[in-house]
Amino acid sequence: MKLTIVGATGGIGSQLLVQAVAAGHEVTAVVRNPARLPHDTPVRVVTADLSAAGPVDLRAAVDGSDAVLSGLGARSGAEAGVASRGTRALVRAMRATGVRRVVVVSAASVGTVPSPGRPNPPRHNPGDGFFMRHLAAPLAKAAFRRHYGDLALMEDVLRDSELDWTVSRPPRLLDRRWKRSYRTAYGQNVRAGMFIARADVAHHMLDVLDRPETFRRVIGIAY
Ligand SMILES: NC(=O)c1ccc[n+]([C@@H]2O[C@H](COP(=O)([O-])OP(=O)(O)OC[C@H]3O[C@@H](n4cnc5c(N)ncnc54)[C@H](OP(=O)(O)O)[C@@H]3O)[C@@H](O)[C@H]2O)c1
Repeated sequence: MKLTIVGATGGIGSQLLVQAVAAGHEVTAVVRNPARLPHDTPVRVVTADLSAAGPVDLRAAVDGSDAVLSGLGARSGAEAGVASRGTRALVRAMRATGVRRVVVVSAASVGTVPSPGRPNPPRHNPGDGFFMRHLAAPLAKAAFRRHYGDLALMEDVLRDSELDWTVSRPPRLLDRRWKRSYRTAYGQNVRAGMFIARADVAHHMLDVLDRPETFRRVIGIAY
């Protein structure tokens, strides 16, 4: 397939890149700093700073692609806003070029974060048990309030689009080797699922690309 990978120098993004190339896909990488890409990676590179104040034109990055994958996210609270802004630019470019399929990363805690498009989310994620509901989730939401607000807005942008989107919502991310064995849950978090390797999130994002039952769905993923 022809794939566009946004944030291809990030934790999940670099895993998407390595796995997509290894699987024989033809990849366009959208990055703000091409020097961070591994040398000799056979990809086309489009440079874009997605936090730019004006609208960013990503049509050249997505035109002709079969699907778009995004590991875009703020590196710090101060950079929060880039996921929603970048995804808005992506949706605009996809609409203009007729590309329909997009898979992005959000976060497990986002299911209970209010946003303009979802002002009254459930108080607790149906997949969360006592520990997650009353301890881990409130702590994470306090610590990453700006990140989660950005990701909730990003999910709004996709929900409001007519695209074939899938949102992956992992819990705490690990830099470990992939297991290629994990649990997933539609529309909710995975019961008692606390961790997942970035490599396995990438594996799942690539795996759902051509599965229509995952279109317009949020999917929890964890071990
Ligand atoms: N940490 C966790 O445990 C956890 C848990 C659940 C969900 N998440 C969420 O999962 C997502 C992916 O996580 P990750 O660890 O793979 O993230 P990451 O390593 O921080 O990667 C973020 C990517 O976004 C890119 N980016 C940031 N600002 C940009 C800008 N202005 N223009 C263009 N690209 C920009 C970064 O580019 P550079 O490489 O140039 O910086 C990087 O490629 C994030 O949204 C994160 O909040 C994290």
